[in-house]
Amino acid sequence: MNKQTVRELTDAVVRGRRALVRVDFNVPLDDARRVTDDTRIRAALPTIQLLLDRGARVVLLSHLGRPKGKPTPEFSLESVAARLGELLPKRRVRFAAATVGPEAVAASNDTTADVVLLENTRFLAGEEKNDEALARQMAELGDFYVNDAFGSAHRAHASTEAVARFCKPAVAGLLMEKELQYLGRALANPKRPFVAVLGGSKISGKIDVVEALLPKVDALLVGGAMACTFFKAMGFETGTSLVEPDRVEMARELIARSGTRLILPHDATVAPSIEAGAQAHAVKRDGIPAHAAMLDIGPDTAASYGRAIKSAKTILWNGPMGVFEHPPFDAGTGAIARAMAEATTKGATTIVGGGDSAAAVEEAGLASKMSHVSTGGGASLEFLEGKTLPGVAALDDAP
Ligand code: 3PG
Repeated sequence: MNKQTVRELTDAVVRGRRALVRVDFNVPLDDARRVTDDTRIRAALPTIQLLLDRGARVVLLSHLGRPKGKPTPEFSLESVAARLGELLPKRRVRFAAATVGPEAVAASNDTTADVVLLENTRFLAGEEKNDEALARQMAELGDFYVNDAFGSAHRAHASTEAVARFCKPAVAGLLMEKELQYLGRALANPKRPFVAVLGGSKISGKIDVVEALLPKVDALLVGGAMACTFFKAMGFETGTSLVEPDRVEMARELIARSGTRLILPHDATVAPSIEAGAQAHAVKRDGIPAHAAMLDIGPDTAASYGRAIKSAKTILWNGPMGVFEHPPFDAGTGAIARAMAEATTKGATTIVGGGDSAAAVEEAGLASKMSHVSTGGGASLEFLEGKTLPGVAALDDAP
């Protein structure tokens, strides 16, 4: 990464000063507003700890949900601050009900706190507009800026982009650095064979990443309902499966020019509906019944994808193979997760893109068996598509 990182900051910059750190604490909460998955909070701890150990006080900015520029109690970060406090038992962690302005500045100067989490940046209309005036107000909350919010780096918002122009130095945090290193190395210099596994429901959301990966990979294994748009292009019956009719032509064209590198499922697990799991059964890909939908890759495909994964040296996975939240349609996704875990043991580099596939790996208890599980869903996809991430571009270049 050609950006300056938090590790390179001198003591003169860090000691006794306020670090304004953008984190991605966009985490799920239950009805009682308790954090149900704290992965993203734990992922930011190394940066927070490093800054505290070096004598800084830490002022955190994050968004939560999509409150559309208005204060909305259900999207308050207060309970996230409580969870952060539990994860940092030896530190004084406080929440401030303001995001910018006098109350927030006072909180940033509160020497009785080691860490302050300010209220949701998206309670302010200027955040998503990348408003310069708001960014200047944010810049008053710290003496230097650290962006550790990889999950939000594809957003050009006041707290991720514009603020980096006004709060200097502006550097990458440890999580940001790690994410860019893993994903960047996989794309630039992968150990081969390099296999990508792409799933999810829609080909439209993945087409740019397919285009970007095809010239780089040795094999691209397709799963999820998006396989059905390819099946349609091959002239197969797809029953009631999710198909994007306006992408069939594009799928046909992709098959024609990608040769043997684009690999589609040979069989499918089908059922009349997601609720009818008891009627699930496997069929060949050209045998999907008219009244059923493909809800997972079939067992033969799961086995052959597993073999391809286990013989690869770099594996990148984004998107589930089926409706993994509803057993038995989780079998294909589980098989990919287990094959990747085995590949890691054998020395391969295994990278799981964020979002659903990260959740599936977490649920299977296999997250620690991967080389890297990204904390960014949209951000990792945009990075893999080769797009510039505004939150990264705005940071200071390495000397
Ligand atoms: C995410 O969850 O992918 C990030 O936090 C970004 O959230 P957003 O899609 O609401 O911008």
